[in-house]
Amino acid sequence: MNKAVIIYASTHHENTLKLVEAIADKYDIEKIDATKHQQTDLSGYDLIGFASGIDFGRFYDFVEQFLEGNLPEGKRVFFLYTCAKLNHRFTEKIKAAALEKKAVILGEFGCKGYNTYGPWKMIGGMNKKHPSEDEISHAVEFFASLL
Ligand SMILES: Cc1cc2nc3c(=O)[nH]c(=O)nc-3n(C[C@H](O)[C@H](O)[C@H](O)COP(=O)(O)O)c2cc1C
Repeated sequence: MNKAVIIYASTHHENTLKLVEAIADKYDIEKIDATKHQQTDLSGYDLIGFASGIDFGRFYDFVEQFLEGNLPEGKRVFFLYTCAKLNHRFTEKIKAAALEKKAVILGEFGCKGYNTYGPWKMIGGMNKKHPSEDEISHAVEFFASLL
């Protein structure tokens, strides 16, 4: 198998981490928490994923900054995210940052995640049961399709 790693930040409810953990349970990949590690040598990886919750329409700063600071040129990359409401534009900025590094973008997978931001907190949050088992399985299938 390709040597793979997923760099993630999942600070709101660990929704995105559920996708990453499910992939790591099935495949021999490494995980790096971008909130704890800022500098990592990614030159030995063939497949590099960036996974995040969505904060004001984009990937968390931790993940974007990790990509900007560590992604070597010309790598094969993919993106995973969870969010309140799906929108393909959520990956626009991080994809642009990857393209600056001449990355080959293989694809993206996004799904809903439990959200208690702002007024949602008062009514117990939205997307309470997300990511669902189905969504988690689809994330694993998405990863498998890249191998
Ligand atoms: C400060 C904040 C801002 C958010 N902004 C958005 C947003 O712009 N669009 C969206 O769909 N979800 C938004 N969300 C919801 C989260 O992206 C969603 O709950 C996600 O699953 C959190 O992932 P995590 O638990 O892996 O951190 C926001 C949540 C927070 C706390």
